[in-house]
Amino acid sequence: YEISGGSSAKGGFELRNRVNRVVLIGTGAVGSSYAFAMLNQGVAEELVLIDLNKEKSEGDAMDLNHGMPFAPSPTKIWFGGYADCGDADIVVICAGANQKPGETRLDLVEKNANIFKGIVGDVMSSGFDGIFIVATNPVDILTYAVRKYSGLPKERVIGSGTILDTARFRFLLGDYFNIDTRNVHAYIIGEHGDTELPVWSHADIGGKPIKTIIEEREDYKQEDLDNIFINVRDAAYHIIQRKGATYYGIAMGLVRLTKAILQNENSILTVSAYLDGEYGQSDIYIGVPAIVNRGGIREVLEFELSKEEQEQFQHSVQVLKKVMEPVFS
Ligand code: LAC
Repeated sequence: YEISGGSSAKGGFELRNRVNRVVLIGTGAVGSSYAFAMLNQGVAEELVLIDLNKEKSEGDAMDLNHGMPFAPSPTKIWFGGYADCGDADIVVICAGANQKPGETRLDLVEKNANIFKGIVGDVMSSGFDGIFIVATNPVDILTYAVRKYSGLPKERVIGSGTILDTARFRFLLGDYFNIDTRNVHAYIIGEHGDTELPVWSHADIGGKPIKTIIEEREDYKQEDLDNIFINVRDAAYHIIQRKGATYYGIAMGLVRLTKAILQNENSILTVSAYLDGEYGQSDIYIGVPAIVNRGGIREVLEFELSKEEQEQFQHSVQVLKKVMEPVFS
């Protein structure tokens, strides 16, 4: 049946309750890793690949389809076009240039903002009325661009934000304390980039604040935790230096987000969400904890940040706004 005014979703929007179709735009390293992870986790019934490089994308569709017998459930995969977006629940954008060694994510803004104008226009011409997920960097600014160019409500345009940074943070903390990452609750918020920040005031293991653990145990040091955060913040540079790009981690973060939407999870994920007064900020997309379900972002969670965290978050907002200003003025 058509879009219903389901009570669970904010604003009455709910994805069509029928075959879950996801359209992926950009089948480069991140996009093709996302497609591979989507197939292996059996998240959607239909996955459409779109890329300027038709040959490569058709090859990806063929290659992935041949793995179908090994997948947990069937995913119909084909190389398609923008017309396939009209019936899609989610459109994921991974297209664009990525960071080269020595480049920051913000250096990519001009190049990718122009590419996005065309992409979003083509998607919307299909009659698309679902949810955008944006992965291309600088992801916070490009998510803002998608919302502006598409005219969709803020809750239905979501950036990957600091979903990967939070995963890196939890992985390294879990390794340090020798605890399953699923029992580590810690968040990275702010720009997906050099000004992101760790929310130590809300970091716990099994409900016990990490701050308390550090105070109680000699063998754990704040200096180690500070180094963990630096490794999280700079992880992409170290990976790009070694293998030229990052793609597995971000692809799995994008699948996590896709799953939270399609399965109406109401999970809390640190994504790039539009702030409309939350954290004292407005008219910006930036990494914050948000409740995600079939309607997109149900709600932004406002942590009571420490003074230091508030200042770092404010700085992150200012850096993004400074870069955004010439792009959207
Ligand atoms: C990274 C890319 C996705 O952080 O920005 O690996």
